[in-house]
Amino acid sequence: MGGVTRISVMLVCLLAGVVFPTRAEDPYLYFTWNITYGTLAPAGVPQQVILINGEFPGPNINSTSNNNVVINVFNNLDEPFLFHWAGIQQRKNSWQDGVAGTNCPIQPGTNLTYKFQVKDQIGSYFYYPSLGMHRAAGGFGGLRINSRLLIPVPYADPEDDYTLLAGDWYTKSHSTLAKLLDSGRALGRPQALLINGQNAKGDGTDQPLFTMLPGKTYKYRLCNVGLKNSVNFRFQNHQMKLVELEGSHTVQNVYDSLDVHLGQCFGVLVTADQEPKDYYIVVSSRFTKTTLTGKGIIRYVNGKGPAAPEIPEAPVGWAWSLNQFRSFRWNLTASAARPNPQGSYHYGQINITRTLKFVNTVSRDNGKLRYAINGVSHVDSQTPLKLAEYFGIGDKFFKYDTIPDEPPANLGTAVTLAPNVIKFTYRTFIEIIFENQEKSIQSYNLNGYSFFAVAIEPGTWTPEKRKNYNLLDAVSRHTIQVFPKSWAAIMLTFDNVGMWNLRSEIAENRYLGQQLYISVPTPEGSLRDEYNIPENALLCGAVVGLPKPPSYW
Ligand SMILES: *[C@@H]1O[C@H](CO)[C@@H](O)[C@H](O)[C@H]1NC(C)=O
Ligand SMILES: *[C@@H]1O[C@H](CO)[C@@H](O)[C@H](O)[C@H]1NC(C)=O
Ligand SMILES: *[C@@H]1O[C@H](CO)[C@@H](O)[C@H](O)[C@H]1NC(C)=O
Ligand SMILES: *[C@@H]1O[C@H](CO)[C@@H](O)[C@H](O)[C@H]1NC(C)=O
Ligand SMILES: *[C@@H]1O[C@H](CO)[C@@H](O)[C@H](O)[C@H]1NC(C)=O
Repeated sequence: MGGVTRISVMLVCLLAGVVFPTRAEDPYLYFTWNITYGTLAPAGVPQQVILINGEFPGPNINSTSNNNVVINVFNNLDEPFLFHWAGIQQRKNSWQDGVAGTNCPIQPGTNLTYKFQVKDQIGSYFYYPSLGMHRAAGGFGGLRINSRLLIPVPYADPEDDYTLLAGDWYTKSHSTLAKLLDSGRALGRPQALLINGQNAKGDGTDQPLFTMLPGKTYKYRLCNVGLKNSVNFRFQNHQMKLVELEGSHTVQNVYDSLDVHLGQCFGVLVTADQEPKDYYIVVSSRFTKTTLTGKGIIRYVNGKGPAAPEIPEAPVGWAWSLNQFRSFRWNLTASAARPNPQGSYHYGQINITRTLKFVNTVSRDNGKLRYAINGVSHVDSQTPLKLAEYFGIGDKFFKYDTIPDEPPANLGTAVTLAPNVIKFTYRTFIEIIFENQEKSIQSYNLNGYSFFAVAIEPGTWTPEKRKNYNLLDAVSRHTIQVFPKSWAAIMLTFDNVGMWNLRSEIAENRYLGQQLYISVPTPEGSLRDEYNIPENALLCGAVVGLPKPPSYW
């Protein structure tokens, strides 16, 4: 007896010794990035591009949940610059979100170190430069969050893990595109569709994007990093098994092709079970008058023969796309961690605290384009809104809730220009309806959160439509498309303190005002709710030289 007790005590001490005093901090990933211009011809015409350490697109960030990511960004462009980590929920930490409303830009010739921790959002994301029209020049890259070994994912370990960033592409420089928009004109049509910064020529000289061993299964992460067009992804002769969508494990349906709207990322499994040779991965623009197509080669190791020139056809019309959206379901039994911990598993049973209905409009006053949400077209202020709010001078720059919760009855095309900030009470459960009365598709992105994408339907929304919501297994994600003359509904708990950007992912619309900020203030000024402003935070505009508010406790 005594012996057993002694052994248990020893064991406890041993465990304690291992677990507590030497408990390692979560691992760090360090990066130093040099942002420069370069000249490349991704669409056949030499043009200015944005490089990260000479790379186009930028490097993939391969992280594992709980990793601390530290990226020191040196801006060697001739313009202020910021990175945004799209879809990464900066918990309590909008200080690192990297958009014009939260951060002072990195001035040319200077640097800023981003520091953030990735949490249990096992999935596929991308980062990109958020200011001006920089994303039109590149500067984007993949960002993946792997599962810790302790948390199994609902599929076998793939042989390898590949990222495909596809998007429409303009041959004009980002500054030319920005000038077009500044003068009230439209961007017009993109000239090409690229996959990882290139488009296969199909003349036998193309190098493969990726290789596969016969018989093995690979994970492909498919993202739409473009500016204007929804795209359809498909592999010649291979099907895709969808396993993940923006950080949520899905029911594993098999697809011949997938529509990926602006800003979205999907994780799929592809098995190399065909004749060993080359195959094309094909991307084409959707809902456009002229279809743009981009191709890349996937090569079987030791395979023989080029990819067949006939490429699989794209689906037609947006009803197909809507049906596909409805087939996406959250896997409720997947053992991996969930994006929203408390209570959100049963989101269908939470009472709605506040409903907002956002209608997007476009105005062409005096021939000048401007885009709005409920009649308000956002303008950034010189002092980032988050910093103005934090330093207690927010009222000099913006009024909360300029934008109404519902579109005014007489919503025409007239717009009010204002910094657009809506305040929400911490931890309230919110329903947002996006209604798109235009003839073109919309895609929205919300920073800092995942939401339940409960419905997309044609027509206009009324409260009765709630009975059509998916209140059981809607996918928790950070983007949602809204088809023409349709609406979409999302639900979420505003439990992440900070200032968060909600925007149209269509570059032209966002640049010309179709965005807003959501302010979720901490009720108590507590570190439990929000991190302190980082020591190295850049200051600019009216907050320079102001006394720092007391630290949170
Ligand atoms: C960044 O790249 C530029 C151009 O290649 C080079 O002149 C500069 O020294 C680099 N800076 C750093 C910090 O590596
Ligand atoms: C990504 O990180 C995981 C976990 O550390 C590692 O197993 C894998 O080899 C990495 N992949 C790449 C391409 O670096
Ligand atoms: C800029 O980089 C230096 C290291 O080269 C680092 O010490 C400093 O903290 C960085 N500045 C900011 C604002 O992060
Ligand atoms: C959901 O995940 C579980 C395991 O985590 C897996 O066994 C199951 O096949 C998945 N269900 C579907 C429908 O994909
Ligand atoms: C939701 O609202 C109903 C009706 O007002 C109320 O009876 C119910 O208790 C509420 N449920 C929760 C979980 O608060």
